[in-house]
Amino acid sequence: MARARTSYVCQNCGAVTQRWQGKCDSCGEWNTIIEEAAALGVGAGSPRKGSAGRAFPLEDLSGVHAEEPRLLSGIDELDRATGGGFVPGSATLIGGEPGIGKSTLLIQACAALARRGGRVVYISGEESTNQVRMRAARLGLSDAPVQLAAQTAVEDIVATLGSGDRPRFVVIDSIQTLWSDAIESSPGTVSQVRGSAQALVRFAKASGSAVVLVGHVTKDGQIAGPRVVEHMVDAVFSFEGDGSHAFRILRATKNRFGATDEIGVFEMTGAGLAQVENPSALFLAGRESGSPGAAVFAGMEGARPILVEIQALVAPSTLGTPRRAVVGWDSSRLAAVLAVLEAHGGLKLGAHDVYLNVAGGLRIGEPAADLAAAAALTSSLVGVALPSDAVYFGEIALSGAVRPVAHANNRAKEAAKLGFKRFVGPKMPDGESPSLQPSTVGHVSQLVAEIAASAVDKPANRAKR
Ligand code: TYD
Ligand code: MG
Repeated sequence: MARARTSYVCQNCGAVTQRWQGKCDSCGEWNTIIEEAAALGVGAGSPRKGSAGRAFPLEDLSGVHAEEPRLLSGIDELDRATGGGFVPGSATLIGGEPGIGKSTLLIQACAALARRGGRVVYISGEESTNQVRMRAARLGLSDAPVQLAAQTAVEDIVATLGSGDRPRFVVIDSIQTLWSDAIESSPGTVSQVRGSAQALVRFAKASGSAVVLVGHVTKDGQIAGPRVVEHMVDAVFSFEGDGSHAFRILRATKNRFGATDEIGVFEMTGAGLAQVENPSALFLAGRESGSPGAAVFAGMEGARPILVEIQALVAPSTLGTPRRAVVGWDSSRLAAVLAVLEAHGGLKLGAHDVYLNVAGGLRIGEPAADLAAAAALTSSLVGVALPSDAVYFGEIALSGAVRPVAHANNRAKEAAKLGFKRFVGPKMPDGESPSLQPSTVGHVSQLVAEIAASAVDKPANRAKR
């Protein structure tokens, strides 16, 4: 007699193995493999017997396509991040750490969209309707015609959404709490999450509703368990921020209907998420000029220039292996910049602890931050403050050369808007005239020499350079 089919599924990446093992071969995580009933997916059922397949007509690219208008919430930062609003008939996944503000953002989005007309449904699997109501009341959204439910059974949810008017916008908070009768494993397992997501994605496509799924992420930033869901939906956003800071960034990591280089910036306030129209001012707030080790980096977040302070502390080490700690930037990038400063800038950092911090809790991924980091590190080592009216950007090559970076003009423009007078960076491309006075550096040795020279001049002279 055939045994009931089970398989072993990694709860992190969804890989399937035939027997239990402690470590997943596919993603390398430990203790993530559990036994589940064999997944019912494409190919899992019995093959269609005796059917040779039916031929279907193929179409041209140039055929007519009806385009429904996107759903604009009127919350500019949200509309910007989604690339001009949610698309009818699309499925979107919004991931973020617990407590970061996903539910808050989405109830605000629901209320804004509901006020513009159409049926808007918010289904919570985590909170009771009362809790959702209380939050909405605190946010002043009680009067918005949002339909609420606390439900986790996916068949019931799809049936409810399918009855009555077609919903324009549906939020499911969160996908990890849903379960389906048709799947024989417990809620929260990969099979359940995948099955539930599949049902909701199918509903979105069939009905033309925009469906948003909330997903929790693990601490290393992956959508917990169902990475598989990322492949099923049309757009994936992550809602990021540092719990100890108030600002939050909504960032697209995948978007079939728009660019992934736009971000939305919010601030968590007592009255929910507020839009931040000028993020640079937020990140530079509380900056103390005149202390060594701080450089203002003119960065880009997607298509948007953002100024942020990079802070460094270089201090003599008492340890055999000095510490290198970095918050908000890539540690291997820091190692490379330190090596270049030693090899080409003549700095001796081997016996120093190095700490690097991006202020405000922002995470920077751009190599353009190299020059600002190098300036902050040098400034801390030499013990002299950098000029307070200068911003820094530029990529540093392993040879020590300072390389041009994209969007130099936008960066300079943003800095000028915030009252900066000059930028220290690579030569501007020909034909571009920056909005700031340029101090061109071609090589890290030049940067180090200039900073060191200002240490030799007395502090009174510093302001002039
Ligand atoms: P929440 O949206 O519940 O997070 P998630 O759904 O991502 O888990 O947000 C929870 C946090 O937000 C909570 O720590 C309190 C804070 N918060 C505010 O500061 N102001 C507010 O108006 C609201 C609603 C929440
Ligand atoms: Mg929540």
